Amino acid sequence: MKKIYGVIGDPIAHSMSPIMHNDSFQRYDINAEFFAFHVKKEALQDAVKGFKAIHLAGFNITVPHKTAIMPFLDEIDPLAQAIGAVNTVVNDDGRFIGYNTDGSGFLEALKKEIPSFDNKNMLLIGAGGAARAIYFTMAHAGVQSIDIANRTLDKAEYLVKNCPYPVDSAVLRIEDAEEKLSKYDLIVQTTSIGMHPEINRSPICLDRIKKDAFVSDIIYTPLETKFLQDAKRHGARTQNGIPMFAYQGALAFEKWTGILPDTERMQSIVLKHLGGKSC
Ligand code: ATR
Repeated sequence: MKKIYGVIGDPIAHSMSPIMHNDSFQRYDINAEFFAFHVKKEALQDAVKGFKAIHLAGFNITVPHKTAIMPFLDEIDPLAQAIGAVNTVVNDDGRFIGYNTDGSGFLEALKKEIPSFDNKNMLLIGAGGAARAIYFTMAHAGVQSIDIANRTLDKAEYLVKNCPYPVDSAVLRIEDAEEKLSKYDLIVQTTSIGMHPEINRSPICLDRIKKDAFVSDIIYTPLETKFLQDAKRHGARTQNGIPMFAYQGALAFEKWTGILPDTERMQSIVLKHLGGKSC
């Protein structure tokens, strides 16, 4: 019988997960289909119950349900528990198990560009849900130093206090991070600033950036934010949010099927869908 997978969120109409995963199901000759399900907050628990009743094989969770879904699952992987958010559920013989592949998707995408994080100083901009997944995963992966700059300092301090993995971190105001920018080998932007339609905004001035810094923005609409344009102008290497999106999907697909799909192909499908070229 054909297996059914899906993604839930609100809104969900523009999700690229269905085209990306359906292409992989076809490519690896798996009898399965992936759908986008529009689920409102108040219907979340019923949706999970319904998914169980119809033996949904697995699903992704996107905004705004990544934390709210946790009490409705049977088991949660320790890293997802620490991050406090689930983006992937596997149906393991009737038990729904929650994972977080957002942080590991980011890490795998980054490893393609930076093979070793030894002696690297990282600056994380933002302290919301996405920053939390990336911060905890990078700390879990053994990155030594990660400073966090955020508009609201309390939120960054909360992340540092609650990180279960050892990492050296300072909490900085954006202006202070701008002053000491030349310290950082790796700068990762996780706020919503610069996202379509406010494409002329950047969260930080990059004038003092190190020449050979690597700069990543998890946004992919637009494909190149003002922040990434500024970084390029200063000679930095850059990565937009497409690789992270493809890798989080690939790692979810691997949990569902045991196959790690071709992430280059997944990225090009998403790019084609967004009407762009690789950055
Ligand atoms: P997500 O789950 O996508 O990370 P979030 O949890 O709402 O979203 O976090 C959004 C991040 O973008 C936060 O770091 C937020 O800063 P605050 O903690 O100060 O709220 C940041 N952000 C969003 N809009 C911002 C703005 N206009 N100026 C500065 N920071 C902003």
